[in-house]
Amino acid sequence: MASSLYPLLHALFLLLLLLRQPLFSTANFHRTSSRLRPQAVLQDAALNDSRPPTRFFEVTKPIKLPNTKPCSYHIPQHDFGFTYGKPPFLVDYTPPSNCPSKKFSNIVLEFSATCKGRQFDRIFGVWLGGVELLRSCTAEPSASGIIWSVEKDITRYYSLLRKNQTLAVFLGNLVDSTYTGVYHVNISIHFYPAEENLNSEPGSSWENSASSYHSPADLILPFSRNLPLNDGLWFEIDSSSKIASKEFNVPQNAYRALLEVYVSFHENDEFWYSNLPNEYIEANNLTNTPGNGPFREVVVTLDGEVVGAIWPFTVVYTGGINPLFWRPISGIGSFDLPSYNIEITPFLGRILDGKDHVLGFTVTNALNVWYVDANLHLWLDSKSTKVEGELLKHISLPLALSVLPKMKGLNGTFFTNARRSISSSGWVKSSLGNITTNWTQSFDYSNSMVLESNGNSQTVNQIIHFNDIVLAKLPSSPIYSTKSHKKFTSYLYSNSFDDRGKGTSVYQEKVTLGFNEKKSEAVGLELSKSSLQNVQEAKGNMSVKKKLVVSAFAGTQQVYKYDGSDFCYLRNWETHALDKGSLTSILA
Ligand SMILES: *[C@@H]1O[C@H](CO)[C@@H](O)[C@H](O)[C@H]1NC(C)=O
Ligand SMILES: *[C@@H]1O[C@H](CO)[C@@H](O)[C@H](O)[C@H]1NC(C)=O
Ligand SMILES: *[C@@H]1O[C@H](CO)[C@@H](O)[C@H](O)[C@H]1NC(C)=O
Ligand SMILES: *[C@@H]1O[C@H](CO)[C@@H](O)[C@H](O)[C@H]1NC(C)=O
Ligand SMILES: *[C@@H]1O[C@H](CO)[C@@H](O)[C@H](O)[C@H]1NC(C)=O
Ligand SMILES: *[C@@H]1O[C@H](CO)[C@@H](O)[C@H](O)[C@H]1NC(C)=O
Ligand SMILES: *[C@@H]1O[C@H](CO)[C@@H](O)[C@H](O)[C@H]1NC(C)=O
Ligand SMILES: *[C@@H]1O[C@H](CO)[C@@H](O)[C@H](O)[C@H]1NC(C)=O
Repeated sequence: MASSLYPLLHALFLLLLLLRQPLFSTANFHRTSSRLRPQAVLQDAALNDSRPPTRFFEVTKPIKLPNTKPCSYHIPQHDFGFTYGKPPFLVDYTPPSNCPSKKFSNIVLEFSATCKGRQFDRIFGVWLGGVELLRSCTAEPSASGIIWSVEKDITRYYSLLRKNQTLAVFLGNLVDSTYTGVYHVNISIHFYPAEENLNSEPGSSWENSASSYHSPADLILPFSRNLPLNDGLWFEIDSSSKIASKEFNVPQNAYRALLEVYVSFHENDEFWYSNLPNEYIEANNLTNTPGNGPFREVVVTLDGEVVGAIWPFTVVYTGGINPLFWRPISGIGSFDLPSYNIEITPFLGRILDGKDHVLGFTVTNALNVWYVDANLHLWLDSKSTKVEGELLKHISLPLALSVLPKMKGLNGTFFTNARRSISSSGWVKSSLGNITTNWTQSFDYSNSMVLESNGNSQTVNQIIHFNDIVLAKLPSSPIYSTKSHKKFTSYLYSNSFDDRGKGTSVYQEKVTLGFNEKKSEAVGLELSKSSLQNVQEAKGNMSVKKKLVVSAFAGTQQVYKYDGSDFCYLRNWETHALDKGSLTSILA
């Protein structure tokens, strides 16, 4: 339990809340005006500030590492200045050659960065051979500078990390006389040799099958765009009708296939869960207001048939809603955006024919813009060149979506509900045996949105339940199974009113973000369980007089509780940011 006060008293900052009128044009590249995206960056009057930089972080459990010395690969520091419209930063990756061991228990990607000055939060991606390893967002700097790092376990990409590849980083940034922040970035990959395990005995053949089913994939196919590209290797999806797709062809000895999908949402869909229904926008003649209602899903198709869906967690980037909320604790998932798994194994029987097939990605109700790409993890039979399989069952019911609207002028109440389930089953016979894999996904979504005070106040309450079950078994013994239940909660309140007595406009915001998950996994007979409760609550307000912020207050509380068969981890944080009277400048 830690509680600390982070006074931002010295920080002059510049906050401009936009309700319906966009104020910025060029400087605002890849940005949208929205009540939840204040055009806010923090700044000090003196950009020459010698105070030590503040360390930002996302609260998460540590990576469990073996007690061995890692061998590492480093990229010399790279600076991301004016990078919009330029190709990604490319560097030749070679696995570290000085490793005494060939067996690694963990491989960790370490991204560390510093920035000083004035800058927005920027989305970025790291790809190796076109396979995305990390999707993340930068922290917003201050005049005295900030520093942060992200560590991600990337052991699942082992087959890729063993070979020479091109490593690409795209971080779209804009630097001019106003936005001065250049991001200075170091990337390292650390290989931790496995500890000697003297007790390890060769298991029975089905135990070996179970462990190879569970170990990192043998081959990973990228579903990203090909180099060179000037705006990232992700596909850009800007409407419901846009399909991002790519042909592929799997080796005929693949016995397991898992698609990992990365998604992030920006501009008009950055706060998709608070987007207004089109009927409200039309009835009130609103312009420049993101619409299409608050429901979104990413749908994955194989040769045109729906095989899986993603109902994403509502990650809030570091400049979202009220930038003071995310200093120094970053929003859940913002430094390491979650990726989502879609089990493709049941469909292998259909794609083991050596021919080309097509994976497609769409976003229901999308507005400009979603960044989507994926990695197909494949496990190959080392004892044969061709395996056989068959899809036994595939049920994908259409999305059930209902909206209950009530409107009176700019006031209104909207209840949106949605459900979907997808299940499939198929067998693959390889040297591991005849394994039948069943997969089920089910989703349940509810969103209530209330607009009061003639649209000046908005309350959104959204809950997504997401169940995911994979069962893989030989005719008479289990091989592998996972069951997971995720609950994503997003509560958002924003209100603005004029305080006539003081001549100020007051903005108030409250946010609750919850990412809870219960999970169990069985490899052969070995069962592990975990539960995670990760909740952030932030509250703040700000008074603005003649476009100047005269006072601002924000407080964030986070409880992170992980309870696993392997270890437990608990963090309870509270931070407050207060700014009074020192705000003297603002941009327009
Ligand atoms: C920065 O501040 C220091 C100490 O206040 C001063 O000596 C120096 O000239 C300043 N540099 C610039 C570029 O303003
Ligand atoms: C990057 O690494 C170099 C060498 O270790 C170090 O001097 C520099 O400060 C680091 N930069 C960042 C942004 O961490
Ligand atoms: C990988 O790159 C290194 C450094 O350029 C080179 O020495 C090595 O021969 C390459 N390995 C392969 C398999 O191409
Ligand atoms: C919207 O515009 C139409 C056409 O200009 C007008 O008839 C209507 O009264 C307007 N509605 C509102 C709520 O302003
Ligand atoms: C594999 O198992 C499935 C389900 O039990 C069965 O339908 C199929 O015929 C088996 N395949 C082979 C090649 O034995
Ligand atoms: C897997 O799916 C098949 C085909 O629908 C079904 O017959 C079987 O009972 C399922 N197995 C399990 C363990 O759910
Ligand atoms: C909207 O609600 C506010 C109170 O939140 C009320 O004062 C106003 O009259 C309502 N407007 C309409 C058109 O009903
Ligand atoms: C802003 O929040 C602070 C702390 O909760 C509170 O004392 C203050 O009255 C609030 N101001 C407004 C205008 O809501």
